[in-house]
Amino acid sequence: MSATQGLFLTGASGLLGRYLLRDLLASGRPVGVLVRDSSAASAAERLAELQDFCEGSLRRSLPRPVLLAGDLRAPGLGLGTAERHWLARHARAVIHSAAYVSYQPTPDGEPWQTNVLGTRRLLELCQTLGITQVHHLSTAFVCGDRRGLVREDELDCGRGSKNAYEQSKFAAEELVRQFPGIQATIYRPSVIVGDSRTGYTCSYHHFYRFLELAVRLSARRQRLALRLPLTGAETQNLVPVDWVARALLTLLDRPRWHGRTYHLAAWQAIRLDEIKNILAELLPLEGTQWVGPEGLPDPTPLEQLVLEEFQDYWSYLRSNLDFDCRNTRQTLPDLPPPRFDRKLAARLLEFAQADNWGRQRGRSPVVPSSECAYYLECILPQQARQSSLVRALPHDFHFALDIRGPNGGQWSFRCGGAEVLTVERGLRSIPEVIYRIDAGTFLSLVRGRQSAQQAFLDGQIEIEGDVEKALLLAALIEQFLAESRSEHQPSKPARDVLAGTASR
Ligand SMILES: NC(=O)c1ccc[n+]([C@@H]2O[C@H](COP(=O)([O-])OP(=O)(O)OC[C@H]3O[C@@H](n4cnc5c(N)ncnc54)[C@H](OP(=O)(O)O)[C@@H]3O)[C@@H](O)[C@H]2O)c1
Repeated sequence: MSATQGLFLTGASGLLGRYLLRDLLASGRPVGVLVRDSSAASAAERLAELQDFCEGSLRRSLPRPVLLAGDLRAPGLGLGTAERHWLARHARAVIHSAAYVSYQPTPDGEPWQTNVLGTRRLLELCQTLGITQVHHLSTAFVCGDRRGLVREDELDCGRGSKNAYEQSKFAAEELVRQFPGIQATIYRPSVIVGDSRTGYTCSYHHFYRFLELAVRLSARRQRLALRLPLTGAETQNLVPVDWVARALLTLLDRPRWHGRTYHLAAWQAIRLDEIKNILAELLPLEGTQWVGPEGLPDPTPLEQLVLEEFQDYWSYLRSNLDFDCRNTRQTLPDLPPPRFDRKLAARLLEFAQADNWGRQRGRSPVVPSSECAYYLECILPQQARQSSLVRALPHDFHFALDIRGPNGGQWSFRCGGAEVLTVERGLRSIPEVIYRIDAGTFLSLVRGRQSAQQAFLDGQIEIEGDVEKALLLAALIEQFLAESRSEHQPSKPARDVLAGTASR
């Protein structure tokens, strides 16, 4: 397509979308961008932030895109007359990158609502406005639950999907291919990681979850053994986001190759043991071992935690898919994807750590002073007396809680004896385990808004002392908190204290 023809881009606030937007603006094309309001910012504010990202990334000013405020879930995408008019007048093609990317379904109908019904709404709008070229972001994993070679010209191989996300992306790709009056070009990236030059990412799924786990475990003074139910010979296919955007936009400029499907994947997948070796040059990873696919008959608390928290990913790690990239290689012989090597791994790691894995730093919710103390000193001992779970704790076990921040403090606990659980302010004895946590996270756990196990994996709870014992105890505390919330509602003053901050 000609460089002066306008484009309609969806998903620009996402990881890939912002690189597409950046490179489209740099090419001088008129771009209309579908952006929705978020809970924190209006669509216009979000687009301004994206412009800053694009200009900051290229270190120069760029033309401004046209804001098309809307949502794939709304009829007609929620666009007004002026926006439709702009599209009809300027846009010859759409790049559809928006998607709901979490694997599990939600009660409000995701991922189907956005990925399938939203794509249908987009296609209907294109049909009405005379936009005939659709460049659709699918995923290499539409191949579903299978192994081995996957070709670009295959879609339905009769194998089911691994999760609701894959199922919706499969249905969306099928819809785009069959939609009347549309020429569809399909792009199927494998697993997208950060920028090959800067390490930048704004999305921390999949590969990053494992990378963060490796960092958390390697940062402990005490070496933790972690056996993984894999052989190490399984493969992963990782591609940097800047390359995916560049490949897609290069293909966009080669219209004679439109209408086909492209795997945007590494030409050669990388084995897990190779990834581990690369990471081992950057992090101490001695405790991790492959024990084969049969699984762990006797998982330690840490292993059980990892098995559960990463359950969405095991099938991806074991699938050993080999994405045939014939079309991509033929059309872009001059643009091979960067290899996942030590340099790239170091960049990704450095960025993710500096970005605190995407978590906003220093933004703990404000907690009124005394709330942690009130819960620990008044409510908890009362609940503990009524709980059979607390009686299961090891007798005479000492542990401590160090709640950081202006509203925190230190508390010591001893299990057993007439009081069942004795709570004292300060670090009185030598505890076997100390949990360090900030006040906001602590109250989220008490209110059941976050799981203790997830908080540990996310690095929001640090453990000093016997980590295996600490995780076992954390699992019991988790059950205790759930039991306390359902059976022993706090007495009125306590409820008032807790409710007071719940709504803040
Ligand atoms: N990341 C990967 O590893 C990977 C691999 C293969 C394929 N893909 C595909 O590549 C595309 C881009 O992925 P990504 O990693 O950039 O995803 P991402 O970072 O999660 O971004 C998703 C984008 O979709 C937008 N979106 C979601 N629901 C929407 C709705 N109802 N209406 C309007 N916009 C909506 C989001 O907007 P908000 O910011 O408003 O939420 C965001 O801009 C997706 O189609 C994905 O399926 C990704």
